[in-house]
Amino acid sequence: MTKFRTKLIIALITLIIFVLVGIGLLLGQLFKSYFLESLNDHLKIVILWSTSIGLGIVLIIIILLGLRITSRYTKPIVEATNVAIELTKGNYRARTKVDKLDETGMLGSAINRLAQNLQELVKTQEMQQDRLKVLIENMGAGLVFIDSRGYISLINKGFIDIFQVSPTDYLYKLYYEVIEQPEISDLIAEVFRTEKKVNKQILIPLFIERKYFVVYGVPIIGTNNVWKGVLLVFHDITELKKLEQVRKDFVANVSHELKTPVTSIKGFSETLLDGAMHNKETLEAFLSIILKESDRLQTLIQDLLDLSKMEQQGFQLAIQELNLHTLLEEVITLLNGKAQAKNIRLELYSKQQHVLVKGDVDRLKQVFINLIANAITYTPPEGEVKVVLLDHGKNVRVHVKDSGVGIKKEEIPRIFERFYRVDRARSRNSGGTGLGLAIVKHLIEAHHGQISVRSELGEGSEFIIELKK
Ligand SMILES: Nc1ncnc2c1ncn2[C@@H]1O[C@H](COP(=O)(O)OP(=O)(O)O)[C@@H](O)[C@H]1O
Ligand SMILES: [Mg+2]
Repeated sequence: MTKFRTKLIIALITLIIFVLVGIGLLLGQLFKSYFLESLNDHLKIVILWSTSIGLGIVLIIIILLGLRITSRYTKPIVEATNVAIELTKGNYRARTKVDKLDETGMLGSAINRLAQNLQELVKTQEMQQDRLKVLIENMGAGLVFIDSRGYISLINKGFIDIFQVSPTDYLYKLYYEVIEQPEISDLIAEVFRTEKKVNKQILIPLFIERKYFVVYGVPIIGTNNVWKGVLLVFHDITELKKLEQVRKDFVANVSHELKTPVTSIKGFSETLLDGAMHNKETLEAFLSIILKESDRLQTLIQDLLDLSKMEQQGFQLAIQELNLHTLLEEVITLLNGKAQAKNIRLELYSKQQHVLVKGDVDRLKQVFINLIANAITYTPPEGEVKVVLLDHGKNVRVHVKDSGVGIKKEEIPRIFERFYRVDRARSRNSGGTGLGLAIVKHLIEAHHGQISVRSELGEGSEFIIELKK
């Protein structure tokens, strides 16, 4: 650009010189023919010098003017060109100065608008790209894209997390060379072969566990039927499958638990009807068994109803302020008979008579009935059950401690599962349903409290409930 400017200036100056020399020559000729003949030599020299100096001054003025004019026109062009060069380099923040609203000013402002548009375009593009990236990375599923030649060209964070792989081992490699699971490779091959969507549930052994996935394989076909590759999406449904299993187990357990008392009630009534009822002693014995089994059936159904109610979405506690000391005293009075029948000492220890907490009276009663009844059930005769109430200021703890059979360490997490019993035969004879602790856990969680267990096999167990005040 400066070259152009220099050339322009040189051309202008040359033009001016030519014009001036031309004018000079013309004037010289005129002077010569009309005036110079009649003048003396001294005057001739004076005229020659003054004409030359005058012309020189005019020349300088014209050059200065020319310089000003050219720089006024070329400077904005130079600046606009520099901005255009910056734009081609990708610097969309470059702007040129616009002072006047003439042609060069218009050029400058047009370039500025262009730069601004480009900047906005790039910003929107970057934003869209970021959004897409965030979406792909955090879509909560594993994602792989395999190009039309079979090379893996994209894997997301979900996929990396599921398969614990590093992107460098996978990216730009042939899928059948790096994907270890034949089920997945087969699925990809199927999409390539059929060019149709495939949706399959597959079980993949991963490290120490087996995981269930729903895998969607989609052929990606661009405009003009150009084959772009295969997209695979992995949804981990292991938790769902586990829940499904829990539900199946639950149904099986419930049916079994219901079947046992019903079978026994049916069997004894049939025997009675077959003639055994004529013997008074047998009649009494069988009827009391039938009554016991009906009771069991009733508690089982009640527990099941309770559990299902607690698991409903809108389950709510009737929260009110209550005195935990009074509540525990009532529960102990209720269970005293059961304890006395086994000669078990059942006692409440508390420093204060007033320990106020917020909770649901009936539900908390249910919790402590279950815990204390368990303590009595799983403690041999002549043992003892201590209920200790401790007020810790911010929270309250109730310890239900027995000198009973105890629980093995590895069994402790399992006893809160529905129908789980350490010793199946003995527990069933004790009249429990196997749902007691599951209900306790539910209720304590609904109260935002905590439950913990300490136990030593053969020494006894301690269930600790912590409630917020
Ligand atoms: N205090 C305890 N001492 C020893 N084992 C216990 C105690 N409480 C509960 N358990 C064990 O936990 C299991 C589950 O208890 P629970 O849910 O109340 O069912 P259930 O009492 O009907 O068997 C019991 O079968 C028993 O094996
Ligand atoms: Mg129980």
